[in-house]
Amino acid sequence: MTAPSTAPASAAPPAPLMSITWTDHVTGHRGFLVVDRLVRGVASGGLRMRAGCTLEEVTGLARGMTMKEALHYDPDGRYIPLGGAKGGIDCDPRDPAAYGVLVRFLRAMRPTVESVWTTGEDLGLTQDLVDRAAAEAGLVSSIQAVYPLLDDERAARRRLADAFAVEVDGIGLDALVGGCGVAESALAALDRAGLPYARARVSVQGLGTMGGATARFLSRAGLSVVAVADVKGTIANPDGLDVEALLAARDAYGTVDRAALRPGDAELPADAWLSAGAEVLVPAAVSYAIDADNQRAVTARWIVEAANMPVLPAAEELLAARGVTVLPDVVVNSGTNAWWWWTLFGDIGPDAEQAFAHTRRSMRALIDRTLARAERDGISPRAAAHALVADRLPVLAERFGWYR
Ligand SMILES: NC(=O)c1ccc[n+]([C@@H]2O[C@H](COP(=O)([O-])OP(=O)(O)OC[C@H]3O[C@@H](n4cnc5c(N)ncnc54)[C@H](O)[C@@H]3O)[C@@H](O)[C@H]2O)c1
Repeated sequence: MTAPSTAPASAAPPAPLMSITWTDHVTGHRGFLVVDRLVRGVASGGLRMRAGCTLEEVTGLARGMTMKEALHYDPDGRYIPLGGAKGGIDCDPRDPAAYGVLVRFLRAMRPTVESVWTTGEDLGLTQDLVDRAAAEAGLVSSIQAVYPLLDDERAARRRLADAFAVEVDGIGLDALVGGCGVAESALAALDRAGLPYARARVSVQGLGTMGGATARFLSRAGLSVVAVADVKGTIANPDGLDVEALLAARDAYGTVDRAALRPGDAELPADAWLSAGAEVLVPAAVSYAIDADNQRAVTARWIVEAANMPVLPAAEELLAARGVTVLPDVVVNSGTNAWWWWTLFGDIGPDAEQAFAHTRRSMRALIDRTLARAERDGISPRAAAHALVADRLPVLAERFGWYR
C-alpha cells in the first residue's frame, strides 16, 4: 500500500520545511522527524512508534498537524496555533529494545525538541513513557520549545501538570479529551442527519487512547458499541458490548484481556469490525486501515477518523459514491493537541468539566463549519477542511511569521 497525500486533489502539498532520518547505532531501527511548517518558530506534533513506520507516513502526518493547528485558530483565543510536525520510529513498541531506541531517538533529536518541536504521545506510546524517555534524554520536557511563547511559564506549566493529574473514572484526562472530540464530531453528524443516538450503533478499530475514550463517550451518549477491534482481532456483540468492562481489561498497549468477555460477546477476525452492522465506524488504530478492497465490507453511514490517515483516497472516493460520509482526521482527532494548548496558554483551567465543555464546543463548531462548507461547495468534508486551512495559513503567516 502507498501512503496517501493529505492535500486536496488539485494541489500537491508543499515540501516540508525539514525532514530528518535517523538510524539507531545500536539496533539499526530508523526514526523520522518531519517539521512541515513553523509558526512563531515552533511546530507541534506527536511521536509514534510502530513496526513499518515510514518517512512518507510521518510526512503526511506532519502536514496533518499543520492543518489541525490552523483549524483551531481563534483570533480571540490565548492559544495561537503553532506549525505542524511529527515524529515516527520504525520499531514494535512491545520489542524489549523499544524503550532504549526511544531514548536514543530523543537524544539525537534533542536540539530540535529544545528549540522547535513540541511533541507528545501518539500510536504505540503513552505520555508517561514519552516523559520518562525525554527526561532520560536530558530534556526539560517534550514541549519545552513552546515555553518562550508563554506569558507566565511557571503558572502555565503548573496548570498543564495539574490537568495531567486529573483522572475521570480510572482514565487520565489527557487520554480522554481526544476521544471526547471524536465522539462529539460523530454526535454532531448524527444531529445534522436527525438520527437519534439510541438508534445508532458504533464499531471501533483500536481500543487504546483514542478508541477507548471515543467508545466511552459514545456509549455514555446512548449509542450502542457493537464491535471493537484491537491487535488480537475483533470483539463483537450485536446487543452491545460492556465498554467500561473492556476498558478496564486493557493492558498498557490497548489490548483487551479476553477473559473479560461476557457470554454473547464473539471473538471474530481482524477485519470483522468493518462489517459489524454499525451506523458509525471509528477507525482509531493504524493508518491506511480502509483501502479500495476492504471498503466493500463497509455498511456504515459515517466513518469518523479518530486515527490519522485511516482511509485511503481511493477508498474514500468509492465510499462517497455509495453515500458513506468520511469525517476527516484533521478535524475529528484534533482535540487532544488543541487541549494541551488551551490548557497551557490559559484558555481553560486544569479540570475535566472545562476541558470537556471547551472540547465539545470547539469540535461541534469545527464539524459544522466543515460540513456547511462541503455542502455549499459540493465537495467532500476532507476537501472542505483543506479549503478552510488554505484560507487560514496565509493569515497565520502574515500575522505571526514562520520564525520568532
Ligand atoms: N493519542 C493521541 O493523543 C492521538 C491524537 C490524535 C490522533 N491519534 C491517532 O489515533 C490513532 C491511535 O492512537 P492511540 O494513541 O490511541 O494509540 P494506542 O497505542 O493508544 O492504541 C492503539 C490501539 O489500536 C490497536 N491496534 C494496533 N494495531 C492494530 C491493528 N492492526 N488492527 C486492529 N487494532 C490495532 C491496539 O491494540 C490498541 O488498542 C493513531 O492513528 C494516532 O496517530 C492519537
